[in-house]
Amino acid sequence: MGQYTIAVVVGSLRKDSFNRQLATALSRLGPDDFQFASIEIGDLPLYNQDNDSHPAASVQRLKAAIAGADGVLFVTPEYNRSIPGVLKNALDNASRPYGDSAWAGKPAGVIGVSIGAIGTALAQQHLRNVLAYLDMPTLAQPEAFIQAKEGLFDADGNVGAGSHDFLQGWMKQYADWVRKHAKKS
Ligand SMILES: Cc1cc2nc3c(=O)[nH]c(=O)nc-3n(C[C@H](O)[C@H](O)[C@H](O)COP(=O)(O)O)c2cc1C
Repeated sequence: MGQYTIAVVVGSLRKDSFNRQLATALSRLGPDDFQFASIEIGDLPLYNQDNDSHPAASVQRLKAAIAGADGVLFVTPEYNRSIPGVLKNALDNASRPYGDSAWAGKPAGVIGVSIGAIGTALAQQHLRNVLAYLDMPTLAQPEAFIQAKEGLFDADGNVGAGSHDFLQGWMKQYADWVRKHAKKS
């Protein structure tokens, strides 16, 4: 068992998602005292404030997973120069009812891969705006805008040689950030 549990939220539901692959490869670069738990967001209802008093089981499960984690790692594509609706829906669902957000205080990391040249930069900026409102201390540097290219992953799904050192360094910074900001009892 690792000492720190990270909830990994991927903003793509696509079966062969590059971002899902990146999340898996990144988790393998984590330090020994970190464990990574993939969080399902594809089965959440569309957020409806009328349901705040009786949230769906999938929403309760999401909130419990976030509440039980020491940090959150967002790995997201860029959709139309912003974050995918499925990710915003997850953020909204676990933020309510008012005063009972699961996200508050959880140290966050933001990263993403897209086929476009700016590698999710605009999606990440929009996401950072939301995370600031949700009171999540979010790692600022290094930024990581990853473009999906041949060789990004090797045949075993690990980060390929060209990006390994950069992403290993990113993960070290993120882990240090979590250690600094996690509210351990
Ligand atoms: C609805 C939609 C909107 C997209 N918009 C962008 C975009 O704004 N910028 C970008 O770089 N790629 C965009 N793409 C291409 C994605 O980078 C590409 O589909 C990528 O593979 C999505 O991530 P995934 O592999 O994790 O599903 C878009 C794709 C879709 C389906």
